[in-house]
Amino acid sequence: MTRPREPGATRSRYSGGAIAFHWAIALLIIANIALALVTDDWHGPARSIAIQIHKATGLTILVLSVARLAWRLAHRPPPFPAGIRRWEAVAARAAHCSFYALMIVLPMSGWLMVSASANRKPLSWYWLFDLPYLPVQGDKAIGGFAHETHEILGYTLIALVVLHVAAALKHHYGDRTRLIARMWPGQVAASR
Ligand code: HEM
Ligand code: HEM
Repeated sequence: MTRPREPGATRSRYSGGAIAFHWAIALLIIANIALALVTDDWHGPARSIAIQIHKATGLTILVLSVARLAWRLAHRPPPFPAGIRRWEAVAARAAHCSFYALMIVLPMSGWLMVSASANRKPLSWYWLFDLPYLPVQGDKAIGGFAHETHEILGYTLIALVVLHVAAALKHHYGDRTRLIARMWPGQVAASR
């Protein structure tokens, strides 16, 4: 059975829903990586506030990513532009699948890491309300594994974002498929 095309998607562009999900999650991920890296060598209350914001933003990304994956599984995206080579389409598909996996497993590893701490403080969502921890308090093996995983997957995600943006720019300007228009809000014409 073929899935319906996304509502609002044309042959050459993603729908408004897919575009909103893409840019909301992309901006939150870039901000959250920057926050973690820039404040890495900070100490005291400033680092503690930065980590609180990082955790709340990471869990927000997790919820949005699960919703986005459910949406994506139910809606067919527009086909790749005609000029794309076969290996490029395979690489793009692999990168997109890896993004969906990382957007869920990376925040899960962070959640597991902080849940395994012996002396947990409330896991607050921007100081508005508390979120639950996973039931692994004090488990050092899980905590250590989750910490390693979070770090390795964090750097993997950074590398994938760099590749993704380079590929998008190459196709937009290099071979003039105007690829970015397919994922850009507003009525920008994309090539077919
Ligand atoms: C997609 C969402 C997330 C991204 C992209 C992300 C990315 C990162 C990165 C790049 C680092 C620095 C790695 C290092 O140098 O050690 C980091 C550290 C950290 N993350 Fe995340 N993270 C996300 C979600 C979460 C979540 C949901 C939590 C917890 C609820 C969390 C908790 C932490 C903590 C506590 C650290 C500091 C670890 C340390 O000081 O060694 N992260 N994160
Ligand atoms: C953390 C940052 C980002 C993440 C996680 C991300 C993730 C994704 C994913 C998962 C898709 C596949 C959509 C689908 O078919 O379901 C996609 C498509 C796309 N992204 Fe990103 N993206 C990010 C940043 C960017 C940036 C900064 C640009 C602009 C240069 C960009 C341009 C595009 C374009 C043009 C497409 C459509 C590709 C096509 O037509 O097949 N993305 N992105």
